[in-house]
Amino acid sequence: MEFLALSFAFISTLALIMLFKLTLSWWIFPILTRHKLKRCGFTGPTPSFPFGNIHDMKKTTTKDNNNTNTCSDDSLEYSSNCLSHDIHRTVFPYFSRWQDSHGKVFVYWLGTEPFLYIAEPEFVKKMSSVVMAKSWGKPSVFRNDRDPMFGNGLIMVEGNDWVRHRHVVAPAFSPLNLKAMASMMVESTKQMIERWSDQINSGNMEIDVESEIITTAGEIIAKTSFGMKDEKARQVFKKLRALQMTLFKTTRYVGVPFGKCLNVKKTLEAKKLGKEIDQVLLSVIRNRKSSSSSSSKSKNEQDLLGLLLQENRHTLTVRELVDECKTFFFGGHETTALAITWTLLLLAEHQEWQIQLRDEIRQVLGHNIDELDINMLSQLKKMKWVMNEVLRLYPPAPNVQRQAREDIKVGENLTVPKGTNMWIDVVAMHHDTALWGPEVNEFRPERFKDDVNGGCKHSMGYLPFGFGGRMCVGRNLTFMEYKIVLTLLLSTFSFELSPDYHHSPSIMLSLRPSSGLPLVVKPLHKY
Ligand code: HEM
Repeated sequence: MEFLALSFAFISTLALIMLFKLTLSWWIFPILTRHKLKRCGFTGPTPSFPFGNIHDMKKTTTKDNNNTNTCSDDSLEYSSNCLSHDIHRTVFPYFSRWQDSHGKVFVYWLGTEPFLYIAEPEFVKKMSSVVMAKSWGKPSVFRNDRDPMFGNGLIMVEGNDWVRHRHVVAPAFSPLNLKAMASMMVESTKQMIERWSDQINSGNMEIDVESEIITTAGEIIAKTSFGMKDEKARQVFKKLRALQMTLFKTTRYVGVPFGKCLNVKKTLEAKKLGKEIDQVLLSVIRNRKSSSSSSSKSKNEQDLLGLLLQENRHTLTVRELVDECKTFFFGGHETTALAITWTLLLLAEHQEWQIQLRDEIRQVLGHNIDELDINMLSQLKKMKWVMNEVLRLYPPAPNVQRQAREDIKVGENLTVPKGTNMWIDVVAMHHDTALWGPEVNEFRPERFKDDVNGGCKHSMGYLPFGFGGRMCVGRNLTFMEYKIVLTLLLSTFSFELSPDYHHSPSIMLSLRPSSGLPLVVKPLHKY
């Protein structure tokens, strides 16, 4: 009896302590943080417990998505000759609304987590001048959620670990190493072109370019990251795609206490897939390690995993290598695919640029693109302007996230307190009239002709690949893939807008066309 009473007292005390801790971390601390942020100079929309501003965000999204896209000057829409690129209000309606009342820097809440919203390049500049790359944090609140995708890969690691990873990973993306991967890109693109030609020959010229390009870019990144020569690598690829579907098609309640319980099934599914991928990748890496020790010059050294495994760069553990392979896949394929997808949309709308790029390809590479000379790609200048302009109007990575690991003093009067998450709104800055002038929403690749910043009035106003030392490590791979895929496509087909296309960009982690991109694709007989 006495034992029972003691057990009961023990369990009750434990429950009380738990309750006290939860009340502190989910209720009291957020209230204190809110006051602290106010004292430090930051206000924003009023949050409510336990969802913060999430309901407001969801409401605005649903309401705005229900708008019919009719052709008028002040809405985002499409008709056969009208595409509006003024997309910020559509993809981030809540930020756009809050900007009207709180300016370009304010605080909003995901559950009990505060986020400092920033759409002011001068603010980004001041912060990055006082915080070194290795001292930046990535929001801990996303870590758990994204663990199956990135684990402790380069995108997520911090501090000295980040320095070590970056030191190993960056050299693998050198132009010389990337050149060896060009043939994998050409091979996958040619297979896609064959599929399209077959479909066109069977009488159907309308192709969902987005899903086709995402599949091809997925194949390319899997080949360039860890090879796709054996069944195991193909299994990884399939599971990575399945994981992506599971994670992206779920409404997530990040930052909300017990948010995971609102999506238990999907969370468990993602975890299970993540574990399966890790297992297969582990065995791919172990096989590679043993085969490369028996023959020092393996063909596999051409891919990123092979390069990371080379002796002199041998400072990552097998577990870390698994996470890097996943990071390359998730960080690299959809972003690059979307850059190409949005480009085809804009070229379909601007036939004159399609012609200009085709002329440039002919001048630089001649008529025989079957033997693509990779060394000549850097001479495709206009193609680079087009790419820059597409990444400005439709940045596939629509935001950059950080977390303050120390108090950050911004100018004379403001301090971002330690622990604050930051959400830098790249779409807003790329569409800001104050930075780009009245023609901000027009497709004008020539703005990049003599200026890598496209004439932006602030050096930190154009951030498609992020900023500072944590800038995208894979951008050279993207440049090469973009030029190869586009050169082959533009030399084989012409592209027109399909009447079935509904212009509705939306955020699904990346910025993508919400109903795909159907285009009318015609073979270029005379080219
Ligand atoms: C159009 C294509 C791409 C876009 C728009 C893009 C965008 C970005 C952005 C915005 C960041 C965050 C930078 C920051 O936090 O400041 C980033 C980081 C990163 N990207 Fe990319 N990326 C692209 C392609 C790729 C590719 C092809 C790969 C690899 C195969 C890749 C791998 C990474 C990695 C590993 C990081 C983390 C770098 C670090 O924190 O040190 N990305 N990327």
